[in-house]
Amino acid sequence: MAKHYDIFIIGGGPGGYTAAFKAAGLGLKTAIAEKEKLGGTCVNKGCIPTKALLHASSMFAAFQSCDVFGVSADFISFDFKKMQDYKKRSVKEYRKEVRESIENAGVDYIEGTATIRRGRTVEVNSPSGKDYYEADHIIIATGAKPVIPDIPGAMLLGVLTSDRLLASDTWNYDRLTIIGGGVIGVEFATIFQALCSHVTIIESREHLLGPMDNEVSEVLENELRRKGIAVQCEAKVLEIREEEQGLICVYEADGEVRTIRSGQILLAAGRKPNLDGLFGRDVSLAMEDGCLKTDSEFRTSEPGIYAIGDVTAGKMLAHVAAAEGTYVVEKIAGVHHTIRLSVVPNGMFVELPVVPGCIYTEPEIASVGITVEEAKAHNMKVRCGRYSMSGNGKSIITREQSGFIHLIFEEYSGTIVGAQIVCPRATDMISEMATAIANGLTADQLMLAMRAHPTYSEGITAAIENYYEAKGDERL
Ligand code: NAI
Repeated sequence: MAKHYDIFIIGGGPGGYTAAFKAAGLGLKTAIAEKEKLGGTCVNKGCIPTKALLHASSMFAAFQSCDVFGVSADFISFDFKKMQDYKKRSVKEYRKEVRESIENAGVDYIEGTATIRRGRTVEVNSPSGKDYYEADHIIIATGAKPVIPDIPGAMLLGVLTSDRLLASDTWNYDRLTIIGGGVIGVEFATIFQALCSHVTIIESREHLLGPMDNEVSEVLENELRRKGIAVQCEAKVLEIREEEQGLICVYEADGEVRTIRSGQILLAAGRKPNLDGLFGRDVSLAMEDGCLKTDSEFRTSEPGIYAIGDVTAGKMLAHVAAAEGTYVVEKIAGVHHTIRLSVVPNGMFVELPVVPGCIYTEPEIASVGITVEEAKAHNMKVRCGRYSMSGNGKSIITREQSGFIHLIFEEYSGTIVGAQIVCPRATDMISEMATAIANGLTADQLMLAMRAHPTYSEGITAAIENYYEAKGDERL
């Protein structure tokens, strides 16, 4: 007879393992199935390994320009294999943490490939055979995989996805072309530029980081160019071919056909839901634009089956998947929600997303809530507080002065509705703004808090002061 669970989760990434951990904590009998390694894209092929390489490469870059701080480091070099080994150790350590947390919580971890059958039955295939499980609720958290764009030559040997690049140990990146100037593209460009590669980004849209605020993309583009990365926007890649000197990427830009030669080409043209083999022939779930269709409670078209994270149409971010997992489990368990994905502040009619978006470039980029353009689209009157980090004490000390802070407040109430931060540690600083938006805080309330000196966070106080100035407030 099939073993029965309250919740059966398919996919062991941040969405799946967070849901499993929460479900077991709420006393629900829980299992999680994973066909590869526990931790999913984030732990094994995404956030953790890329940020480890970013850390190592930025350390190398820092030593190369440390003379300004009075530090000499004449013989700096790096060993790519050792860097990859350090990255692998970080990944392994984190994966162990995840495994221990779910096992200590009492979750059954099932290694194998799960297929959903009729009547909320799950078939799991593993080298040891086939097993069947039944569940009251199934949560699909199978994530996404890289899109291979339809470009002749995209399958050539030196043309890699981020998954393959992260797995490579040997250095062949003196010249790297990146197709796609989204988040993955700019983060890998940052890593390899720091390691002295000649990097070119080819992007089809007008700007890098398409959905971001234009000012943010412009600052990043300028900063990447200043560091020597070639950025070609509004370009159409025509083909990739292999020649004796390396890979040749042929593209059209500014009305002419151009070529660029490199040792490797990274495809960073987006990701798509991972649904391979997930449904048996007797099960069919509604889809929308290639993603699993869900309602606002993450229910699919099949009763008792939910979908969270990258497999749905939402933002492809680890913390979003984890928050959605928590939300679904709390809903199933019938307990009070401990997390909010969006808020409607008092007296407003606009729903604000409380999802921090973080890009680990140099400087870092982080945003939460809505932009000025989005506020306009909602007919919301807003006023901004702006501050350029060039005058911030900590930025002067670290010689990283190119960033800025934009805070967006609703005109009448002074409630914060959005923030964009570009500076070192922006990815940590954005949490204060996410907390403020989630709790409907106003400029006055944000001003009550003291921010330590010297810190990058003092820029937040300065941006609020600029908001008062713009408002003509006599408190200044
Ligand atoms: P993306 O959707 O962010 O960017 C892909 C870019 O490639 C777009 O700008 C698109 O216009 C461009 N593109 C597509 N086809 C092209 C072609 N043939 N030629 C030139 N340009 C082309 O996707 P990306 O960067 O692959 O990231 C995938 C997902 O992973 C994203 O949703 C992202 O949010 C997430 N992610 C998040 C990270 C973070 O939070 N720090 C880090 C890495 C990924």
